[in-house]
Amino acid sequence: MERRRLGAVVTAVFIAMQLLCACEKLGTETKEPVHVGLTCYNQSDTFLEQMIECFREELEELEHDATEVTITIRDACGSQRTQNDQVKELIDAGCNVLCVNLVDRADPSEIIDLAREADVPIIFFNREPVAEDLMQWDRLYYVGAHAEQSGMMQGALAADVIEADSRIDRNRDGKIQYVILEGEPGHQDAIIRTEDAVDTLINRGVMLEKLSCGIANWNRAQAQNRMMQMISEYQNRIELVLANNDDMALGAVDAYKKLNYTESALPVFFGIDGTDVGLQAVVDGELSATVYNDKEGQAQVMAKLADALVSGKGMDGIALERGRYVYVPYAKVTVENVGEFLRRQY
Ligand code: GAL
Ligand code: CA
Repeated sequence: MERRRLGAVVTAVFIAMQLLCACEKLGTETKEPVHVGLTCYNQSDTFLEQMIECFREELEELEHDATEVTITIRDACGSQRTQNDQVKELIDAGCNVLCVNLVDRADPSEIIDLAREADVPIIFFNREPVAEDLMQWDRLYYVGAHAEQSGMMQGALAADVIEADSRIDRNRDGKIQYVILEGEPGHQDAIIRTEDAVDTLINRGVMLEKLSCGIANWNRAQAQNRMMQMISEYQNRIELVLANNDDMALGAVDAYKKLNYTESALPVFFGIDGTDVGLQAVVDGELSATVYNDKEGQAQVMAKLADALVSGKGMDGIALERGRYVYVPYAKVTVENVGEFLRRQY
């Protein structure tokens, strides 16, 4: 009798355990794996390389939350046609969410069609498609930052430095002679950053004289070349260099170094991004200041959005503008607060 009762208890416990396991299995099964397919306009771009690294780290965090996560990364090496092929390949390989950094931000139609046919949502990032394109389908999103804000911050930082140090106006003519190093033509961050930086300086009452403007496509080596040409034309008349990103500001610094300019004959340099090298240059005093393009913040939003789009849960926790845009704020970086930003680096 005793033995029979014991047998029944053992059987009951066994069945309960089986049921528990089955439920657990069901629980994990409902969490769909996230397979991210990412393509980038050019992976040798300093800011993007670091931003994508942050994104990988954010996806690893997701994995700690018991979601299976994979990421496949492709480099379009500056060709929209290559990027279209890559999107097709990523969809065929089973990616269930795409992150696209367009080569030509005016030409996303083929990519959108491919994604729509396969019902795979797209998060565009850093290179903003025009609004009409983003409205083509309701599973299209954009994560980036407001170019105007970065330009205004750069202008304000330059005004602060110029007001605080009368030696910057080296020829003492009451005006600041300046040059611009601009990013890719047609990129939302190029023209807007330049215009807003200059307008902010003017609104702050700084008298300006533009000497020249050179396009250097976000690239340090190209910026060095453009700056060498400008220096040979204007010699030591240049008092201020405004660059649309840190790499180009550093290319300008490289040009002066190559020509062995002494510190008293140097202009002041301003960048945007706060890349590792950019922040270090602020610490070393080579850049007067920069504007932080919050790659950690952007990467975090992208990972959250990717997860929510796949699982269909958690979209409420993401603050979307007009239902599909997330703009992460920029921040001013000077020698006083650069430590805070260095601590954010991995
Ligand atoms: C900008 C960034 C540049 C470059 C560019 C590429 O936001 O400031 O350094 O990375 O994006 O699209
Ligand atoms: Ca002057």
